[in-house]
Amino acid sequence: MTIEKALLQFEPEKENLLPAIKKIQDEFGFVSKESIEACADYFYIKPSAVYSAASFYDQINFQKPASIIIQVCDGANCSIKKAEAVIEEIEKFTGIKVGDEFDQNIRIKRESCFGLCTQGPIMKVNGVIFEKVDPKKVDDILRSYFEPNRTQIL
Ligand code: FES
Repeated sequence: MTIEKALLQFEPEKENLLPAIKKIQDEFGFVSKESIEACADYFYIKPSAVYSAASFYDQINFQKPASIIIQVCDGANCSIKKAEAVIEEIEKFTGIKVGDEFDQNIRIKRESCFGLCTQGPIMKVNGVIFEKVDPKKVDDILRSYFEPNRTQIL
């Protein structure tokens, strides 16, 4: 699927702008600058109007999603079960701090509660849940998500 093919599924009428933007989001995971310009050309409007319409919706991402998303619960129950130590180990392994966005491939996020409090600390990697995470085992969990030759930052 290309941006052009996605757009051709819609008549170039104003009421189809948002469905087209959502289609691009669904197909590519985000709405790039190129997509905005292609929409503007296709619908005969300014890129700023496309951006304005798209930014009205929270679900639209303008940045390419990270390929590895690590989430750690820091809710009350997980916090008393060493969630902070888990986060420290993740930061050490990746060389990235929670919330940093300088590496476009990795995101580390704190979450408030996954509803699995008795199994904490809880960590998710690309949606896969790991329960009762031992901080000493974080490297083993993460290693399979990274390229074999990625250097660990100590
Ligand atoms: S507090 Fe961590 S899953 Fe609920």
